[in-house]
Amino acid sequence: MTLPLTLKYSPKKISDIVGQQEQVKKIRDFVTNYKKQKKKSMLIYGPVGCGKTGAVQAVANEMNYELVEVNASDTRNEEAIKNIVGMASKQKSFFYQGKVIMIDEVDGLSGQDDRGGVSALLEVISQSQYPIVCIATDPFEQKLSKLRTKSAMLQFEEIPAAAIYDRLKKICELEKIKCSDEALKSLSRRAGGDLRAAINDLESMSMFGEFQKDDLESMSEREREESIGNALLKIFKSSDPNIAIDSFGKVDEDPEKILLWIDESLPQEYKDPEDLDRAYHYLSKSDVFLRRIRRWQHWRFLLYVSNFLSGGVAVSKTQKNPQMIEYKQTSRILKIWMANQKYMKRKAIAEKIAEKMHTSTKDALKNILPYIKPLFKTDKGKAVADELELSDEEVEWLCK
Ligand SMILES: Nc1ncnc2c1ncn2[C@@H]1O[C@H](COP(=O)(O)OP(=O)(O)OP(=O)(O)O)[C@@H](O)[C@H]1O
Ligand SMILES: [Mg+2]
Repeated sequence: MTLPLTLKYSPKKISDIVGQQEQVKKIRDFVTNYKKQKKKSMLIYGPVGCGKTGAVQAVANEMNYELVEVNASDTRNEEAIKNIVGMASKQKSFFYQGKVIMIDEVDGLSGQDDRGGVSALLEVISQSQYPIVCIATDPFEQKLSKLRTKSAMLQFEEIPAAAIYDRLKKICELEKIKCSDEALKSLSRRAGGDLRAAINDLESMSMFGEFQKDDLESMSEREREESIGNALLKIFKSSDPNIAIDSFGKVDEDPEKILLWIDESLPQEYKDPEDLDRAYHYLSKSDVFLRRIRRWQHWRFLLYVSNFLSGGVAVSKTQKNPQMIEYKQTSRILKIWMANQKYMKRKAIAEKIAEKMHTSTKDALKNILPYIKPLFKTDKGKAVADELELSDEEVEWLCK
């Protein structure tokens, strides 16, 4: 079995850790001088995929300490924390220099004032003989307030794009992945400080052989379509407004665009005319609010727009369409645009006629153009075109 690259290249030694040098030093100090610490636990926090878990593992590994790993999301309740952490914090480690207890994702613990996972954890910390390192993505939740005061706080940073690039480059060399430097740089920037995401992207891109920057663009386009597709599925196939309302949370797309997607797919999804009528009513309301937002910058209306588009459309149906439909972005706007382009050409020609014939554009459009157009089906067209100084495109339009 081949390991995913993120696991294969997870930091084993301190020198494997990208960035976070100050942070690593502090973890080391905390673990080494645990008996002298005022705060009996450490609380590490920071953005996802920047090496929080990996750093603790690497430090323990390099110091030859036993690492007891507990994932708080799996052990939400009091009992589990007391049993697992409580035992580990008292028993001596026979084969190692020492012991570190790492409790990952403490944001996942249940918390009430004096009950639940958080309070059990606090109790265990106060009695522990070994250093306890907690990790959270967001440590500023109310339920973690006591843990914050009892812990030495340590913030991890997003990893700079340049450091991500270096790491990816190295992995490419070791794995013999071929990709252009430009693509690698673009991938590093797109990761937004998340090295795990960057390595995962690299792995999925490299499955198709050598890749270039353009391939990345198609990847993000694919991701976007996937996420909006899932959201639409929830809206169209469920009648529970709560499910529907949540669906746009992760979609990285303007509400205007979302509206167009729904607009295009609605007639295929909803077959009952009354369902359609209700759904389009919500769509048109969203449109009204979007216009108000644009005109007056009333951003709070965005909430209405998003609720109309999701919950509103979902509850509009009396029956669900069991068929699976492939959702598409609207083609209507494109059609309007093309029609406008055509109209613009017509108008431009009329303007030229109006100037030569000393009349209004409107008059030229209505009373002269219809008589000029047929000339372009004959050999007189060329002379007219020269006289009016028409462009090739305009001539082409007249010839049609
Ligand atoms: N600073 C780093 N140095 C080396 N590798 C890293 C670093 N950050 C992330 N990685 C890579 O990403 C993977 C995930 O990192 P890690 O689990 O340490 O992130 P995390 O900060 O704990 O993320 P999460 O908040 O999602 O738990 C690692 O296995 C490694 O491949
Ligand atoms: Mg982690």
